[in-house]
Order: sequence, then C-alpha cells, then structure tokens
Amino acid sequence: MALVYCVANQKGGVGKTTTVVNVGDYLTLRGYSVLVVDVDPQANATSSLGMREKGEGSPGSDRLTIYEVLINERPIGHAIRTTRRPRLHVVPSAPALAGAEVELVGLLGREMRLRRALAPILHYYDYILIDTPPSLGLLTVNALTASRNGVIIPVQCEYLALEGLSHLLHTIDLVRQHLNPQLKVAGVVLTMYDSRTRLSQEVVQEVRKFFQAGEVFQTIVPRNVRLSEAPSFGETIFTYAPESTGAMAYAALAEELLARAPQPVRERGGI
Ligand SMILES: Nc1ncnc2c1ncn2[C@@H]1O[C@H](COP(=O)(O)OP(=O)(O)OP(=O)(O)O)[C@@H](O)[C@H]1O
Ligand SMILES: [Mg+2]
Repeated sequence: MALVYCVANQKGGVGKTTTVVNVGDYLTLRGYSVLVVDVDPQANATSSLGMREKGEGSPGSDRLTIYEVLINERPIGHAIRTTRRPRLHVVPSAPALAGAEVELVGLLGREMRLRRALAPILHYYDYILIDTPPSLGLLTVNALTASRNGVIIPVQCEYLALEGLSHLLHTIDLVRQHLNPQLKVAGVVLTMYDSRTRLSQEVVQEVRKFFQAGEVFQTIVPRNVRLSEAPSFGETIFTYAPESTGAMAYAALAEELLARAPQPVRERGGI
C-alpha cells in the first residue's frame, strides 16, 4: 500500500518540484517504487523527469494526462508513463490543467477526485508523491485530500519566508476537518540555504520557532547550482551530480522521511 504525500506551499519557487523529483528518485535508488503525480499546470515535474515529448497531452494525442483523470474521470492507470528510472513512474501534467481549476468548480466531488483516482493503484507503488501548483485552489486541495500520509512543506530561506504559512496551515486544517481526517504536516523542509548569509540562519531559527519540535526536518537543503541545472537535462540530481551538496541533502532528506514514515506494505504485484 503506497504512502501518499504531497509537497505544497502556495508561494512560488520555494523548491516544491525540486523536492518531489529528487526525493522520488532517491527512493527508487533505495529500491522503492515511486509514482510522481504532477498536478501543476506548469508541468515542471513532468519535464524535469524528461517527459516533454512532442504532442504529448495536446488535442488529438491519445496519451492521457492528469487533466483527463481529474476532469473526465479517466482511469489514472492510462495516464501513467515510465521514465528512465525503472521504478519511477509519472502521471504527467499538461497546459490544459490551467483551466481545470475553473472546470472542477462545477463537478461532483470536486475536491475528492484525485484521492478517488489514486485508490485503485495504491497497491502498485511504495510511494506516491504529488507536486502542486503555487496556489491554494482546487488542484492543491485535491492533492491535500489525496495525501493519506501528510504534506511536506518546503520553505525557502529568504526574506518573508514565513509569510503565507498561516494561510497554508489554515487550509490544511480545513481539509483535515472536512475532507481528509488523516492529513498532517509530514515535515517542513528548509530550502536554498546559503550559509554565507545571516538571513538564511535567521530564517532557520524563525521557522524552528514557528513550528512544533520535530515538525521541521533536520536536513536543510543548501542553495546548489547543480540542483537548478539538472532539470534542463531531464535528469535528477542523482544522475546529474551525485557528488554535489544538493544530492547529499536530498538523500539525507529522503532518509529522514523513510525513518519517520511507517514502512510501505508491499502487496500483490508491485512494480
Ligand atoms: N536548493 C536549490 N539550490 C539552487 N536552486 C534551486 C534549489 N531548489 C530549487 N532551485 C531552483 O529554483 C527554482 C524554483 O524551484 P522549484 O521549481 O523546485 O520551486 P517550486 O516551488 O516548484 O516552484 P513553483 O511554485 O513555480 O512550482 C528552479 O529553477 C529550481 O531549479
Ligand atoms: Mg513547481
């Protein structure tokens, strides 16, 4: 039975996609099977995993994306693609998803669609990681509702890092009350830390004060240019620069997640 997490923060550019892709890849290196589900219309996780084939997801293409899964209730199994990594699969996003936020409003069970879509495939993966857009609209609410094991919140070590976090935590509370009673903060991860600046150090202290003990991952992801270069080659940090500080940080973060999480239960026919 897969453990399901989403990575969310309505602030843009804080490291959500980088976290999904690299934690996901590291978990496959540790022998787990992982499905990345991209519910961001920007499709950055999709392209980071080398998935931007010509015509994919465009009208006339018979390859399904998360859009058809959420809006037309097409089976998610038909949207799953393989990647270069044998145990790493992805449900791609597509630009059409930008309209889904509005289209979902009128649909039955609009907040539950992703959770329902994932139910039949939970047995086939150890981990399902959902990448979300920088907003708290229905796409992110779907991701939070589907996240049986919690939400991972990346916080960038920069000015106003805590801004908006109360709003995010309030949304998490509402989803817990009304849609997903199991929802919890699986952990807050500090990203883009620059040890040369006092500001970075201050943000770490502030964030550790703001959250309860144990809620913030010990691992801090440093600013590392290799992490920003890897996606343009369709690679993760572990193939692009396995010796980099970025790779070491994401390995340590994934190990912390493994240590905190209940172990995934392998059932029939995992990949
Ligand atoms: N630790 C890091 N060091 C250096 N660059 C990073 C790091 N983490 C992420 N980046 C880069 O910063 C940018 C934003 O990161 P990313 O796309 O992961 O954020 P995001 O929260 O998913 O953004 P969005 O809200 O737009 O989806 C990207 O160009 C990424 O490559
Ligand atoms: Mg992103």
